[in-house]
Amino acid sequence: MQILFIGDVVGSPGRDMVKEYVPKLKEKYRPQLTIINGENAAGGKGITQSIYRQFLEVGAQAVTLGNHSWDNREIFEFINDAKYLVRPANFPEGTPGKGLVFLKYNELEVAVINLQGRTFMNAIDCPFKKADELIEEAKKRTSIIFVDFHAEATSEKQAMGWYLDGRVSAVVGTHTHVQTSDNRILPNGTAFLTDVGMTGPYDGILGVEKEAVLKRFLTSLPVRFEVPKEGRTLLSAVLIHIDQKTGLAKKIERILINDDNPFYS
Ligand SMILES: [Fe+2]
Ligand SMILES: [Fe+2]
Repeated sequence: MQILFIGDVVGSPGRDMVKEYVPKLKEKYRPQLTIINGENAAGGKGITQSIYRQFLEVGAQAVTLGNHSWDNREIFEFINDAKYLVRPANFPEGTPGKGLVFLKYNELEVAVINLQGRTFMNAIDCPFKKADELIEEAKKRTSIIFVDFHAEATSEKQAMGWYLDGRVSAVVGTHTHVQTSDNRILPNGTAFLTDVGMTGPYDGILGVEKEAVLKRFLTSLPVRFEVPKEGRTLLSAVLIHIDQKTGLAKKIERILINDDNPFYS
């Protein structure tokens, strides 16, 4: 089976790319499941219920989140009813939402886990220990387990890949918004990519208007970060081929669509 995963969708430029290219990618690669990271989908910060629904309508079966989960306050109104919305599992006990979701494809079940790193990020529960816990829970139902590890440090993401090698189908990183080129199958059969990259504005800085970011670097004055409304866009994704009997990965392909890497169907 194949899982298509779309990296951090940023604002309306990112949502437009999802609308345009997810159907094309589905036609080209025929993935059985599509998962989208939507932590920046609402104006760069958080997600709304209508955007969550749009993602499901365009053909995603689950939406993962990250450190921006709570930035749009609407989340608190719908997260508990959103069956396929997955927030980092290692947020403190009592946080609304869930970090492990099971998806169905025919007679198969797939576990989707979202975890968040702690290096250069907020101090939350240990993502490694939480992973152990959730994998044990997931294994009771399926050996096909997909992990979106939302983390800043490359080292922490690589560490998670090695830690979970052979125990899950895939560990892919999100959050840094730049796709890395280290897609590989680890020795025990887990597909790994340090960061999938983002989906949204192509000519900004990590999806934000470059003028504001430059002003911050040049002056250190406080600035307001906005997602550019116009301009060129990109989509970053990854396609994972999984042996459905063992739950181990056979292949991991990076997908990058922008003016420098045009999409050919
Ligand atoms: Fe992000
Ligand atoms: Fe993030």
